[in-house]
Amino acid sequence: MPALVETYAQFPFTLVDGCGARVRDENGNEYWDLYGGHAVALLGHAHPGVAQAVREQCERLTFYSNAAPLAIRERAAERLCGFAPDGLDRVFFCNSGAEANENALKLAIQQTGRRRIAALHGGFHGRTLLALSATANEKLREPFRDLLCPALHLPPNDIDALSGIDDSIAAVIIEPIQSMAGVVELRADFLQALRRRCDESGARLIYDEIQTGMGRLGRPFAAGEHGVLPDMLTLAKGIANGIPMGAVLMNDTVADNVAIGDLGTTFGGGPVPCAALLAVLEAIAKDGLLQQAARFGESTRKKLVVGPVREVTGRGCLIGLRVATTARPVQQQLLKRGFITGTSGDPSVLRLLPPINTPAEAVDELAAALHDLGETTDATLAEPAGV
Ligand SMILES: Cc1ncc(COP(=O)(O)O)c(C=O)c1O
Repeated sequence: MPALVETYAQFPFTLVDGCGARVRDENGNEYWDLYGGHAVALLGHAHPGVAQAVREQCERLTFYSNAAPLAIRERAAERLCGFAPDGLDRVFFCNSGAEANENALKLAIQQTGRRRIAALHGGFHGRTLLALSATANEKLREPFRDLLCPALHLPPNDIDALSGIDDSIAAVIIEPIQSMAGVVELRADFLQALRRRCDESGARLIYDEIQTGMGRLGRPFAAGEHGVLPDMLTLAKGIANGIPMGAVLMNDTVADNVAIGDLGTTFGGGPVPCAALLAVLEAIAKDGLLQQAARFGESTRKKLVVGPVREVTGRGCLIGLRVATTARPVQQQLLKRGFITGTSGDPSVLRLLPPINTPAEAVDELAAALHDLGETTDATLAEPAGV
């Protein structure tokens, strides 16, 4: 048996290196990485600016915990808050998406004294116990049912259902575009009504921007759009372009109620991820990557309704391709043609989560590959088991 515990269905090749939005396997085959290593390679693989910043920081001071003030940690906090909309001006650094959501939910529970949370059907927020309480996936929840925090799960985009948020709810956590659900966009009027309902009931509003944040939508964050600002915003994935890092951005009301000792982490806010984050923010500004991400999204809408694809959803570099068949055989065929894409919780939706600096030619080449697949059916696309 392999020493590594098997936890994921895996691609049928071993990767050895990558450059930008391209990766290469051990046989020298190259792929467009339109999945970005689970939305983590925000600036692509082996980004020179990030690599240099990480290398220099490793050589200077690889680690010191939050017990010691570090100029690089303070600079990373200031720049990240500067990138976020006004009103989200404080940050707590941690290590992953689940940890960011866990801490945001804990803060809401601690500060409101309430014991229930709310989230949306289709939402994915991580696998630690509070994050899992918010996640509506029954298969993941079932083994831990009696350990989870009581949670109200509401249908997305249903304004009437928001009346269920009462004064027992500490926090409502949502993804502004639900990625795993199959790239489902929340409407402006729903988000505005949700903000109003949270204000009326005293619940904290948390935006999980672990996928939508850091420029992926062609704007810094979904927060601030439609005049809606959450009380907290969580980040991870591409924030440090592959160096593990998470963050909870928060408003002054939340931050001013955090006492020393309320939040903790050994690795969070270490100097190496902070150096990587600073390099990411610098590249986004210097290379015009918000505009590039927006153009990628526009071009997918124009060019990718072809072959088995019936509809394109999402924005920027968070794109859903709804296919006439089921998505998995299409994904397998694209893999054979040199494109890594992702599936989703919706069996008919393929996801694209490419680096935000992916060149336009990737969309043209993907359009040609989809055209090649033609109006295929599941039967013609299906692979024998194990491929
Ligand atoms: C929207 C969202 N929230 C939270 C998480 C959990 O992040 P992590 O895997 O870093 O714990 C994920 C991971 O896929 C995610 O997509």
